[in-house]
Amino acid sequence: MARATLFIHDLESAVSPGGHGPLRGRDLAELRVHSPASVAISGDRVLAVGPPGEVLREHPPGPDCVTLDGRGKVALPGLVDCHAHPAFLGDRAAEFELRSGGESYEEIQASGGGILSTVDATRRGSEEELASAVGRHLGWMLEHGTLTAEAKSGYGLDRETEMKSLQAIVGATEKSPLDISPTFLGAHTVGPEFNSAAEYVEFVVREVLPEAATLARQADVFLERGSFEVPEARRYLRACRERGLGLRLHADQFSERGAIPLAIELGARSVDHLENTGEEGVRLLAGSNVAAVLLPACGLFLDLPLPPARLLVDGGAIVALATDFNPGSSFTESLPLAMNLACTRLGLSPAETLNACTANAAHVLDLPDVGRLQPGYRADVLLLDAPDWRHLAYHLGGDRFTAIIKGGKLV
Ligand code: NIG
Ligand code: FE
Repeated sequence: MARATLFIHDLESAVSPGGHGPLRGRDLAELRVHSPASVAISGDRVLAVGPPGEVLREHPPGPDCVTLDGRGKVALPGLVDCHAHPAFLGDRAAEFELRSGGESYEEIQASGGGILSTVDATRRGSEEELASAVGRHLGWMLEHGTLTAEAKSGYGLDRETEMKSLQAIVGATEKSPLDISPTFLGAHTVGPEFNSAAEYVEFVVREVLPEAATLARQADVFLERGSFEVPEARRYLRACRERGLGLRLHADQFSERGAIPLAIELGARSVDHLENTGEEGVRLLAGSNVAAVLLPACGLFLDLPLPPARLLVDGGAIVALATDFNPGSSFTESLPLAMNLACTRLGLSPAETLNACTANAAHVLDLPDVGRLQPGYRADVLLLDAPDWRHLAYHLGGDRFTAIIKGGKLV
């Protein structure tokens, strides 16, 4: 009989995605709910979740066990943000003001602002400044219940700053309680020193990727007019795959231009955004193993069309939800906000949104033992100060946690 090292007793309820692996179709709406419940943890793993008497009998607290009173609270798995850009310096408040006056994101980008203005600020900062910015951004995420996050590079677009970004991300893993999955977004947009996307991609593949691949787990490309088209994206992603990186694509954000067929051809892990995906794209994704990552906060921030969320879920695609935290198109670190928007604007149910930013987001990051409050999974647990887990999506911007447990330890 394994003894608990952390024990949460008499919760109002404990809630988790069911099953294992990614959830599709009707399974996305199913949750495993125990009410009332206790949770026993040993080391960094969940031992048991279930009726209080049963959990106490089978896994009594050990001598140095930390005990938490769960009365009036709900336990949930830590949230997983599978699409985030926390490695940047500076801000885009001035552009935000321009956009409030009617200028579009693409117009600002075409006139040299947008991503390139953040590239400029990030290149000018020191390694220490960038590392401290990454740490600060991860701290914001943690406050909103994110216990595992992706962190993309992509605001360097030169060898030195891309590596500085990935090093800051990997370095933050040692200092932050979050688990971080580093992604090489070497193809975010064309570096300002280059005349064409093809020329820039050759540079990235030859000069940056070999070293970047030693730090990153996944690679990403922005396939969009003004950044990269299918041929350059294919060249970049194939080279990244050869280096062992999982593949991600920023796809169909402003226009549909072949990202989904390319993702399927290359066996990518996900396509993210999809605000302009049409019927054929939905059909292709539903029949594939490429996950669809929806970013409703970005849609709100830029006033984009809504992605076909309901059609994707009902068609059987693997759907995940993320913040897209970045300074230009989605300046929010809150997954509960994304959950609320997915319910109010995309027509997903609260259960679908919770599964989408826990189990399915962990699948997108290829982290099979994360995202569930079930025996054997990593003990990443949120204690929500509410009588019903749905408050996480329902209370707009009001997520209240009384305790956060990461890898079995109180944060
Ligand atoms: O996911 N679209 C490309 N990349 C980011 C935005 C980056 C930025 O504007 O700084 C996105 O929306
Ligand atoms: Fe993004």
